[in-house]
Amino acid sequence: MERRTIGAAALEVGAIGLGCMPMSWAYTGSRQRGEESVRTVHAALDRGSTLLDTADMYGPFTNELLLGRVLKERRADAFVSTKCGLLVGEQHVVANGRPGYVKRACDASLRRLQTDTIDLYQLHRADPEVPVEETWGAMAELVGAGKVRALGLCAVGARATRRGGAGLHAGTLRQLERVQQVFPVSAVEAELSVWSPEALGELLPWCESRGVGFLAAMPLGNGFLTGTLTPGQGFEPDDLRARHPRFTAEMMAANQSIVAGLRRIAARHGDEVTPAQVALAWVLGRGRHVVPVPGAKRERWAVENAGAAELRLTERDLAEIASLPRARGSWD
Ligand SMILES: NC(=O)c1ccc[n+]([C@@H]2O[C@H](COP(=O)([O-])OP(=O)(O)OC[C@H]3O[C@@H](n4cnc5c(N)ncnc54)[C@H](OP(=O)(O)O)[C@@H]3O)[C@@H](O)[C@H]2O)c1
Repeated sequence: MERRTIGAAALEVGAIGLGCMPMSWAYTGSRQRGEESVRTVHAALDRGSTLLDTADMYGPFTNELLLGRVLKERRADAFVSTKCGLLVGEQHVVANGRPGYVKRACDASLRRLQTDTIDLYQLHRADPEVPVEETWGAMAELVGAGKVRALGLCAVGARATRRGGAGLHAGTLRQLERVQQVFPVSAVEAELSVWSPEALGELLPWCESRGVGFLAAMPLGNGFLTGTLTPGQGFEPDDLRARHPRFTAEMMAANQSIVAGLRRIAARHGDEVTPAQVALAWVLGRGRHVVPVPGAKRERWAVENAGAAELRLTERDLAEIASLPRARGSWD
């Protein structure tokens, strides 16, 4: 697989990574496929998808434990990205950016992951009670201590600011400017996909101009862009899509034309090519600093998704994607 080099620390990773969240968290059936998930991680590594994206919060903790089983045997093949700063409470998640907590969280992640070093340590969400420079400073000390190689900021929670319409990433950009004064940001993780292209506006250019890598979360639109979901199929209550406005039966039906477009493009590239691969190839093409991290717990998905690194979209394909209807269903 093609390799990409990201961030000030010149981190080298396979062009397509593996999002490990669905193996333990937020998707139907997450907890029932532990053994298959382990095989999925091996399959991804075998195909050059070196970047494994997790967080202490996924599970909570069980996703890191699962990855630890693989890393124990294959640490040299993998690039480990994990996150700190969010705790799972009774009703909702709570941010904790206190320096002492961050250092303890790192030690705990290292133990669960069965490794001495985390390649990319990300702040999952800034704590409104703690100046972000203080949290980032503690994370920088972890780099100094050799526990972490590089730092990243996860901006997926930026959805909360979307209510104002424009300026989805304005708060993230302010945070990035602040933490850059303390220690270099090597990567930003945020949503980017055919049906959620907002990061192309300001966030992606910000990263590109500063040599910061961009990890594209949810590049498959939480599975929708793969064309394997049926409008009205329903989701278990603990599946994030059960409350997602784009996953009501009505919105899934309304957004089928997006999947149909990806399917048409895939068909032009051959019988074996899938809408998921077209969606990933589009994300890959947004810049040399972009690394999609499609989530998957099934081995066949990880193999299929890694195969997208070989797909080259034509000008005609790109024009068709640009003319697809805007996705219906918003958080407003
Ligand atoms: N979602 C968030 O809020 C969030 C936040 C921060 C970071 N991230 C990171 O971003 C990663 C990716 O986001 P995501 O996992 O939420 O969404 P995603 O990558 O857009 O979609 C994942 C879903 O797509 C399905 N899938 C994957 N490949 C497929 C294929 N080729 N054909 C059919 N279905 C396929 C998976 O099914 P199976 O599960 O059945 O394999 C899973 O349900 C996460 O794993 C995590 O590391 C996500």
